[in-house]
Amino acid sequence: MHKHAFLCYICATLSSSRGIKIATMKIPLLLSLFFFFSLSHGLNPQCDAVDRGSTLKVFHVSSPCSPFRPAKPISWEESVLEQLREDQVRLQYLASLVAGRSVVPIASGRQIVQNPTYIVRAKIGTPPQTLLLAVDTSSDTAWIPCSGCLGCSSSQFVPAQSTTFGNVSCGAPQCKQVPNPTCDGSACAFNFTYGGSSIAADLVHDTLTLATDPIPAYTLGCIQKATGNSVPQQGLLGLGRGPLSLLSQTDNLYKSTFSYCLPSFKSANFSGSLRLGPVAQPIRIKFTPLLRNPRRSSLYYVNLVAIRVGRRIVDIPPEALAFNPTTGAGTIFDSGTVFTRLVAPAYIAVRDEFRRRLGRNLTVTTLGGFDTCYNVPIVSPTITFMFSGMNVTIPQDNLLIHSTAGTTTCLAMAAAPDNVNSVLNVIANMQQQNHRILYDVPNSRLGVARELCT
Ligand SMILES: *[C@@H]1O[C@H](CO)[C@@H](O)[C@H](O)[C@H]1NC(C)=O
Ligand SMILES: *[C@@H]1O[C@H](CO)[C@@H](O)[C@H](O)[C@H]1NC(C)=O
Ligand SMILES: *[C@@H]1O[C@H](CO)[C@@H](O)[C@H](O)[C@H]1NC(C)=O
Ligand SMILES: *[C@@H]1O[C@H](CO)[C@@H](O)[C@H](O)[C@H]1NC(C)=O
Ligand SMILES: *[C@@H]1O[C@H](CO)[C@@H](O)[C@H](O)[C@H]1NC(C)=O
Repeated sequence: MHKHAFLCYICATLSSSRGIKIATMKIPLLLSLFFFFSLSHGLNPQCDAVDRGSTLKVFHVSSPCSPFRPAKPISWEESVLEQLREDQVRLQYLASLVAGRSVVPIASGRQIVQNPTYIVRAKIGTPPQTLLLAVDTSSDTAWIPCSGCLGCSSSQFVPAQSTTFGNVSCGAPQCKQVPNPTCDGSACAFNFTYGGSSIAADLVHDTLTLATDPIPAYTLGCIQKATGNSVPQQGLLGLGRGPLSLLSQTDNLYKSTFSYCLPSFKSANFSGSLRLGPVAQPIRIKFTPLLRNPRRSSLYYVNLVAIRVGRRIVDIPPEALAFNPTTGAGTIFDSGTVFTRLVAPAYIAVRDEFRRRLGRNLTVTTLGGFDTCYNVPIVSPTITFMFSGMNVTIPQDNLLIHSTAGTTTCLAMAAAPDNVNSVLNVIANMQQQNHRILYDVPNSRLGVARELCT
């Protein structure tokens, strides 16, 4: 039965009280579910693989293994435009993570359906209830939809069915580490915004099991109410650097060290891995110093010093790349933004050189927020991000997006939105695909190595 633990996402389609407790399901029901699962997923063995040790499989949300993939295929243009819109909200969220401010001004009233990009399987409670959590390196506190939640999707954690569940009291030190804490009876409650959503949650603790590592009394948010569409359907695992993040709560176990390999969303059987702790991390890997910015203390800053397009280092005004602890400016690695965003002067310099190298007689077209697209096949010049002590040359696959029909190809980067007042350059997940990214907080360094995620 363990083998099919991933089946538990089907809980989403059952009533919450019955669905979550897969362990107690009758065999015929399980078999019929498995049959349904197999039919709808083309018998891909990857989907059922069990997480072992301290390594979790990472799935793209539109992977055949993901329950969150669109029910009916949407067109390439639609999906690209959608991802760009989601990124816009993401950038607002990142820009809002300023010390002492936790409420995001939401600019547009447009309905934005935001999904997390990459998910891992986590088990919460005793007996365990399986949820697929979004991997977010720019969030700290984990949170999950709890039974009775208003505005959450149908897949919810049922506290009453867990013998290890408990509330965090108002007086507990953890209650001072969440935004806008209040007292709900004697229990700590808080609220916050995430992307285009506002979320009210109780602060609770329960056993969190990642792969085969049980983490007792893990403090997390139990969502009671959510508005907006930016809430990852089954919750989020915060891998940021701040208080209450996975790193902060498991320092004795994982030593504030993790790495991931994000699979390409183009390959059919994509899955990658999230490896927790210093054990089995790559040795052959290039490093750049990790910087801590007090303005946005959850984020993983690095020092991007220059960008090379082809053989030329493009002309970027130094202030566009500078790390600034006062304004929060600088460059971050983020798992939740899809397309790399550079502040306008940096992006324009890269884009202009990219276009120049492709030749002036090719017609440049646009697609939504992408301004460098071509209706003929192109080969991208190489783009190298030059960080302190580490040059990373981005492979073609991570630079260009191609329409399914092969007629349009775009440079998969954009300028940071100017309405956000953002001073952040974000190295996003499309550009990180098929690399191992190692976050080594104790040694204040971030590593990057090519790796085909399998
Ligand atoms: C969020 O918390 C504050 C108190 O910290 C409270 O005044 C406000 O009503 C709460 N908002 C929601 C939507 O629950
Ligand atoms: C946790 O707190 C909530 C709100 O005060 C309450 O309804 C619930 O019964 C508490 N649960 C436990 C296990 O103490
Ligand atoms: C990928 O999927 C295809 C078809 O679904 C299958 O034939 C192939 O064995 C899979 N590859 C891996 C590495 O699982
Ligand atoms: C582009 O322009 C060059 C001359 O500058 C010419 O040799 C080449 O044939 C042109 N390519 C196309 C596709 O028109
Ligand atoms: C990065 O590339 C530049 C040349 O483009 C070179 O001068 C520099 O030494 C390289 N840095 C590292 C760490 O390899």
